[in-house]
Amino acid sequence: MKVYIETYGCQMNEYDSEIVRSVLQQQEFEVIATPQGADVILLNTCSVRDNANRKVFGRVHTLRHLLRKQPVKIGIIGCMATDFKKELLDDDHLTVDFIVGPDSYRNLAAIIRESFENDRKGFDVTLSKTETYEDIYPIRNSGVNAWIAVMRGCNNFCSFCVVPYTRGRERSRSPESVIQEARQLAQEGFSQVTLLGQNVNSYNYNGSDFAYLLNKVSEIDGLRRIRFTSPHPKDFPESLLDVVADNLKICKHIHLPLQAGNSRVLDLMRRTYTHEEYLRLVDKIRATCPEVALTTDIIVGFPTETDDEFEDTVKVMKYVQYDSAFIFKYSERNGTLAQKKYADDVPEEVKTERIMHLNDLQKRHSLKKNRAHIGQTLEVLIEQQGTKKSPDDVQGRTDGNKLVIIPGGSCQVGQYVNVLITDATAHVLKGQIVEK
Ligand code: SAH
Ligand code: SF4
Ligand code: F3S
Repeated sequence: MKVYIETYGCQMNEYDSEIVRSVLQQQEFEVIATPQGADVILLNTCSVRDNANRKVFGRVHTLRHLLRKQPVKIGIIGCMATDFKKELLDDDHLTVDFIVGPDSYRNLAAIIRESFENDRKGFDVTLSKTETYEDIYPIRNSGVNAWIAVMRGCNNFCSFCVVPYTRGRERSRSPESVIQEARQLAQEGFSQVTLLGQNVNSYNYNGSDFAYLLNKVSEIDGLRRIRFTSPHPKDFPESLLDVVADNLKICKHIHLPLQAGNSRVLDLMRRTYTHEEYLRLVDKIRATCPEVALTTDIIVGFPTETDDEFEDTVKVMKYVQYDSAFIFKYSERNGTLAQKKYADDVPEEVKTERIMHLNDLQKRHSLKKNRAHIGQTLEVLIEQQGTKKSPDDVQGRTDGNKLVIIPGGSCQVGQYVNVLITDATAHVLKGQIVEK
């Protein structure tokens, strides 16, 4: 049986698709690269914002239309499976054949087979307190980076966020299983791994914490760059900062989601830190590791956020001067605390104004930060031959995760080269390869 998998949402879903591939191939399914010719299509979905949901609903319709002559089964897996179970099972127009949540991939093969045997919509959206798939070795796409999920789920229940409901409770994998996976990756030639978790720095396995895990992974020969995402500002003990600062293999980049700059709004969001505490953490990070690149996530238009309160977000951005930022309009999610307690009362036009304002500000900061690299020689890991603009360019990333374009560069994917930065925009650095 041939299966085609399409992945939406965050890196955890990317990783999960690789787990699914592994599970299915063990059970004699063949995973193919196009929907044409597939017996089964799996959409690994995201539910974090309304537009993520709409994209998937639209895609199901398109696929059904496109493949109307093909007797294909379409299954929804991932976060929408748990979040939209009822809608997906009840909606006969949508013609989804089965749904499987993020903790039930071991049962996927059986549910797919069943869907060919009877017309009932099969489902398994049980959330587990223990499932980490730690014994399953994902089948990865080629590339220079390998994801490793080290913990799953989330216990934070930020009031706006659906993830604790779609992915269930927090649980960590054993350090041994992570190290084993990382070691195998190094043997296969991956030199960069990114440790993943919804709250990756809350990692804890019988007392082994995230700082311990980072150090252990960094001891593996062959690995040169270790990244992690997403940490939560509440879990940044000095021991962790010291590892990031002192360990040469840990990339000097911290994604530090702010969400909002005003303490009242942060409190309503249940983020567990104030404006001042967040800035103190930034100061501490910069004092310990001055070269670190900082990036963030921000939500504008959380219920009741006033213009003045929004200005506090602007203030934090101006103070921190992030290297880049993902900025979102608040999107009300069913079942979350914010949806139950507050009306989504910031008008759409105001959300639009705020997001445009912040994107504009961020663009200026990114440009300034990027231009500061002009004249420096940075180590770049080559990720891709050919860019949108030219097949002769190569692109890669710096330790601080900045995208670098090397026009006419002659080097190979996976290679580390020293690049003299000669130009920069808000999005990319440009440069030439030099001997160091
Ligand atoms: N676990 C990660 C976030 C996962 S979701 C963390 O805590 O950092 C990624 C980002 O989506 C969040 O940081 C937040 O900025 C945004 N987001 C989550 N729920 C949202 C919602 N209801 N509306 C708008 N943006 C949201
Ligand atoms: Fe969502 Fe908050 Fe958990 Fe991140 S920490 S996944 S924003 S509930
Ligand atoms: Fe989306 Fe689920 Fe990730 S809701 S952001 S795919 S954890």
